[in-house]
Amino acid sequence: MLDIRDPKPEDEGVWRELWAGYNRFYEATVPEEATAGTWARVLDPGSAIFCRLAVRDGAVVGFANCVVHPSTWSTLSSCYLEDLFVSLDARGTGAGRALIQDLIDQGRAKGWRRVYWHTRQDNAVARRLYDRFAPADGFVRYVINLT
Ligand SMILES: CC(C)(COP(=O)(O)OP(=O)(O)OC[C@H]1O[C@@H](n2cnc3c(N)ncnc32)[C@H](O)[C@@H]1OP(=O)(O)O)[C@@H](O)C(=O)NCCC(=O)NCCS
Repeated sequence: MLDIRDPKPEDEGVWRELWAGYNRFYEATVPEEATAGTWARVLDPGSAIFCRLAVRDGAVVGFANCVVHPSTWSTLSSCYLEDLFVSLDARGTGAGRALIQDLIDQGRAKGWRRVYWHTRQDNAVARRLYDRFAPADGFVRYVINLT
């Protein structure tokens, strides 16, 4: 039984475990201040950041961290899926797909313009899933890190 739901304060421990796994996947070191700030904002209904959790048989197995933002191209908001992660032992059972589908369903209900995300070109596992929703649109990302 798979459920997608909003996080609750008591999910902090499991969310942090999954977040640590996601950071390891990207070989990233996210400062504790940023992790704590992200968790605080996903619980804050006034924040543009939100999170959805995938729960299988009562256990949280994955998350989607997102940002809703305005757009210059539309009066409607867009939803950027910033982080998607499913625990290793729950992969391949539809949690990732359900997390994305949930955003699409929410977006239709809330009148968002689009749900979008990007990934590494060589992330074959993720891209196999993403290609089920839409073809990649060919845009290339440029990043200038300022800190
Ligand atoms: C990408 C990711 C979120 C997908 O989550 P998931 O819950 O495994 O995804 P799903 O089960 O919904 O779908 C995965 C696809 O791979 C297939 N698959 C089968 N066995 C699998 C396995 N052991 N592991 C992963 N995928 C498997 C699924 O069947 C599905 O393909 P299909 O459309 O042909 O059926 C997950 O692999 C992950 O967290 N990866 C590491 C972090 C990452 O890459 N995040 C995305 C960064 S942009």
